[in-house]
Amino acid sequence: MNAIKKLWLLVLLMSVPAMAIANESGAQLDKAPVDLGNNASLQRGAKFFTANCLACHAASYMRYNRLKDIGMTDAEIKPMLPEGSKLGSTMQAAMDPNSAKLAFGVAPPDLSVIARARGQDWLYTYLRSFYVDSKRPSGSNNAIFPSVGMPNVLAALQGEQELHFENHEGHATKKLLLTKPGSMKPAEFDATIGDLTNYLVYMGDPSKLVRSKIGYIVLGFLLILFVLTYALKKEMWKDIH
Ligand code: HEC
Repeated sequence: MNAIKKLWLLVLLMSVPAMAIANESGAQLDKAPVDLGNNASLQRGAKFFTANCLACHAASYMRYNRLKDIGMTDAEIKPMLPEGSKLGSTMQAAMDPNSAKLAFGVAPPDLSVIARARGQDWLYTYLRSFYVDSKRPSGSNNAIFPSVGMPNVLAALQGEQELHFENHEGHATKKLLLTKPGSMKPAEFDATIGDLTNYLVYMGDPSKLVRSKIGYIVLGFLLILFVLTYALKKEMWKDIH
């Protein structure tokens, strides 16, 4: 056996336990309906985020007035500002990190770039996977973030879920069942969390929208330049042929 073959075999053998570990968590992630071109969805997500998440989390790389990039006006942004904040302020948490740590055991992390750290499908699934667990101090737990410190702040909207295990060909898979309805229907709740996830992805890289716009402008410019250069070439070679 030559050296390359041996190396391949080694890589293959090493990846088997890695694959097993990846499956063991049993976390099936749902696909997040992310569409950065949908300003209406991004705006709904921004409103939901500022109203429901900034109580504990900050997004200190994000300024309120950047919301103009997703089509909001000053008049629409102003009612979202907390006391003492200006349009140019960054998004700060209402609760200070020390009291939050005392209350929840862990300080709520800054969410500015959380979508880049965790991935959009993880966020979309996490925010819909809280379930009732009397063993936890907050009374709830999360199917993809076991023993999470965050209380289920979305219970009034989503309702209460219970965790069940289903047996599929010898594997126990986690299944969440809605046992008490919330103020939103399941499809409505999913759509709301979809908008929120869309916003979190946008916030992780706000200039992406601007970058892709510039990209189109550059391509358009190159196209026009090509047409002009071609016309010029024809003009110059006209008498030679
Ligand atoms: C009552 C306070 C509170 C509110 C309100 C709250 N969170 Fe949390 N959140 C926490 C705490 C505390 C943690 C840390 C959990 C841990 O590490 O165990 C956390 C963790 C998270 C995480 C996981 C971060 C990571 O990767 O470790 C995400 C994502 C998150 N929150 C998103 C949100 C969103 C989105 C909202 C708004 C819908 C929200 N949170 C509202 C307290 C809160």
